[in-house]
Amino acid sequence: MPEVKYLETMITAAQIDEKVTDLARQIDRDYAGKDTIFLGILKGSYVFMADLARKVHLDQLEMCFMMVSSYGDATTTSGNVNIKLDLENDLTGKHVLIVEDIVDSGNTLAYLKSYLANRQAASVKICTILNKPSRRKTQLEPDYCGFAIPDAFVVGYGLDYAQKYRQLPDVCILHFEGEEAGAEGGKRI
Ligand code: IMP
Ligand code: MG
Repeated sequence: MPEVKYLETMITAAQIDEKVTDLARQIDRDYAGKDTIFLGILKGSYVFMADLARKVHLDQLEMCFMMVSSYGDATTTSGNVNIKLDLENDLTGKHVLIVEDIVDSGNTLAYLKSYLANRQAASVKICTILNKPSRRKTQLEPDYCGFAIPDAFVVGYGLDYAQKYRQLPDVCILHFEGEEAGAEGGKRI
């Protein structure tokens, strides 16, 4: 595995907070009066899910989780999606909002959408805090998106590298030893 050199802040906690407030406002408007269930995709979405759920005002809101993996410990997608924790909730007639940390190739969400297709949900939409449109390998686009970012490997706000850095409040670019010099001012770790 490449050695980590330093972290460079890309999006601050304050910017994220403002964006989550904004997304919650849109979701409140679109889901008012509907039987809604947030489906968090573990592990990456746990921070965003907690923030978003506490900013919306949907009294009938339910929360559920699935754990899937498409990445090993590396920074490139394998294209294979494994379900590690399956749904227990009945989705019949529910409006499902998939909550994700990042849409990269789109493979994970394309797989999940087809997996959920015969669960009789009233609707299935996607809300992601980060989006890397330049990396897309499927047609899939999120319905709600926090920030479109360039093709860089990022950590923090739930996102990991080899299971680390999820707890960082900012979204940071991870720079590796031996890579071309990036922006200055990153924090050495
Ligand atoms: P996709 O199936 O290629 O869209 O991959 C989505 C999953 O890959 C995300 O839910 C993340 O877990 C992981 N991922 C993609 N890009 C990054 C990144 O820049 N940092 C950390 N994890 C990432
Ligand atoms: Mg993920």
